[in-house]
Amino acid sequence: MMLQLMEKFQKLFGEGGDIRSYFSPGRVNLIGEHTDYNGGHVFPCALTIGTYGVARKRGDRKIRLYSENFSKMGVIETSLDDLVYQDSAGWTNYPKGIVWTFREKGYPIDKGFDMLMYGNIPNGSGLSSSASVELLMGIILKDMFGYEDLTMINLALMGQYGENNFNGMNCGIMDQFAIAMGKKDHAIFLDTQNLQYEYAPIHMEGCKIVIAASNKKRKLTDSKYNERRAECEEALKDIQSVKTVQALGELSEEEFEEIKDVIKNPVCRKRAKHAVYENQRTVRAVKALKNNELETFGRLMNESHISLRDDYEVTGKELDTLVEAAWKQEGVIGSRMTGAGFGGCTVSIVKEDKVEDFVKNVGGIYEKTIGYAADFYVVEIGDGTRRIS
Ligand code: GLA
Repeated sequence: MMLQLMEKFQKLFGEGGDIRSYFSPGRVNLIGEHTDYNGGHVFPCALTIGTYGVARKRGDRKIRLYSENFSKMGVIETSLDDLVYQDSAGWTNYPKGIVWTFREKGYPIDKGFDMLMYGNIPNGSGLSSSASVELLMGIILKDMFGYEDLTMINLALMGQYGENNFNGMNCGIMDQFAIAMGKKDHAIFLDTQNLQYEYAPIHMEGCKIVIAASNKKRKLTDSKYNERRAECEEALKDIQSVKTVQALGELSEEEFEEIKDVIKNPVCRKRAKHAVYENQRTVRAVKALKNNELETFGRLMNESHISLRDDYEVTGKELDTLVEAAWKQEGVIGSRMTGAGFGGCTVSIVKEDKVEDFVKNVGGIYEKTIGYAADFYVVEIGDGTRRIS
């Protein structure tokens, strides 16, 4: 496939020069949802599917972008002097946001470039196609402009900065970190408060990770994501009137129960409860996995979904239908929504010999209930963002 992308690049942008290729994965979070902006833990992994990029530096200030996934839009031309967010600019806001971030952070980009992209992450599926593109752009700029001192964690933070400040989505660090730091067959146990992390090997004897994409249309900047963040911040403020903490993730369940009544707004109290309990659940889940207690891990995944459904209220009919159907299937170790919610996808751990029935049965129930089909993917855990050649 790289060969085809190379040829396409040369056809669009001309031959010659120093043409380089890169890959940046998608991600799935196994547990620890909506904890990353609350100073809690997350447990995501990078996937073997993702976004491929081919790029070459230019001598002038032009930026020419082409995505094989949006081929109808053709080559989009912009320049280093025109780095502003525009609704109509669609996917190009992500790479542009990263060029802009480099400049903001003191890493000047003084020459333009040509870039072709192709992603095999299903679009809008909730596997972080946008963070994948952000890190792809990050590695390209680091490599092309020789910013050797930038680490992969720096690039993850710059990806988040671009997403927050250029694209207006107040995401936490999970997606960009998982994509930048991914490691084959490992999930990343990350403490978002201090970015300390640990790789945990994932060998689920005889089980597979199955993603079900709800195919519900959503746009996260319009969604309740930013509202949930604000609700957690309000809860934290109330808690800080009686206890010195920086983030909800510092609280144990017992501490939370003791002081929760200082949170005036009952809705914010529920949101905070999720943040605290989900964080503790994540710590427990990773411990269980280390002890090879996959059943416990699965049970905690199920509890995570219930909390996201009832206390955090980010699931919705589509994700609930997928997960509740999954729970009824034979050979399912655990199933939950993953990512931001409000659509997007679910993650399930399923015994290998039951995957086919799982897809048939859950898919059947979903289509009957919701009126359109879900898509299923058996995924593998892969390495993080990198240059290929
Ligand atoms: C989105 C955000 C992440 C994280 C998840 C919810 O994927 O980009 O930072 O908050 O939602 O866990």
